[in-house]
Amino acid sequence: MSQKVKDPILNYYRKITKSDYLHYGYWNLEDELKVENLHRAQERYIKHLISLIPQGVETVLDVGCGTGGNALLLQEKGFHVEALSPDIAQAEAFKGKGEIPFYLTKFEDFETDKRYDLILMSESNQYIPMREGFKKCRNLLNNKGSLLVSDYFLRDNFDRDHVLAICTHEKQEYQKTAEEFGFEIIKSEDITSRVTPTLDLARLKYDEYVQPTLELFDDLLIGWAPIPYKIVKFLARKPLKTLEMQLQLIDSHQFLQQRQYMIYLFELV
Ligand SMILES: C[S@@+](CC[C@H](N)C(=O)[O-])C[C@H]1O[C@@H](n2cnc3c(N)ncnc32)[C@H](O)[C@@H]1O
Repeated sequence: MSQKVKDPILNYYRKITKSDYLHYGYWNLEDELKVENLHRAQERYIKHLISLIPQGVETVLDVGCGTGGNALLLQEKGFHVEALSPDIAQAEAFKGKGEIPFYLTKFEDFETDKRYDLILMSESNQYIPMREGFKKCRNLLNNKGSLLVSDYFLRDNFDRDHVLAICTHEKQEYQKTAEEFGFEIIKSEDITSRVTPTLDLARLKYDEYVQPTLELFDDLLIGWAPIPYKIVKFLARKPLKTLEMQLQLIDSHQFLQQRQYMIYLFELV
């Protein structure tokens, strides 16, 4: 049985963005950094991905579907969609979305007799071990099926010790492995500059709201009880480190140096 998870960071982003999408979106470069424009960018992104789906595709498996925004739009466009995610919080949020079949599982553990015309991995590819992922796609796709992947990858000259190198596939290695498993690139597109405004917006909101709230918490706790404050800080050092890491993860300059956001349309040959 697949291990069920609840990703606290994704859950947090879902709550603060109040969006049915958990991806970066596809910005117009002239747009102001506002949450409304993030929502527009997210709509634009899935519409762009849908525009890349080859003629003749009817059945789609949405892998790592998040809370279902992409799956719902695919269904509205007439595709027969099924979706999966191992995250219980997302499963709850997904419930009732156009009666789309949902499987609470990791992709690696997913078993079915069905075969699909297209597998969509919208920002879920990074979580799935590369070789296991391609093998599973091979098994689940129809003859000449398509794999549509949209995600960030490590650039050729990335720094191995950098925090942004964690949980991210290397672009060159990914392309080579795709070929090894019989996937031919039909289209590829670098959309890095169209996704990084989301990081800049996150940083803006952090500076505006999150940082002052953390400072207020610190001030209140120190004023109330200086010794327990030190103990709480000590005990909370691991989550505080996670928070520190999140700040690096939302730094668009570091993202641009280490990562490249790519869309790949593959065909199984
Ligand atoms: C960044 S979210 C993207 C969600 C959605 N595809 C979107 O574009 O809004 C990453 C998704 O991958 C899922 N995920 C994480 N590990 C996974 C795995 N091993 N197999 C399948 N999905 C996974 C997460 O639960 C989440 O749904």
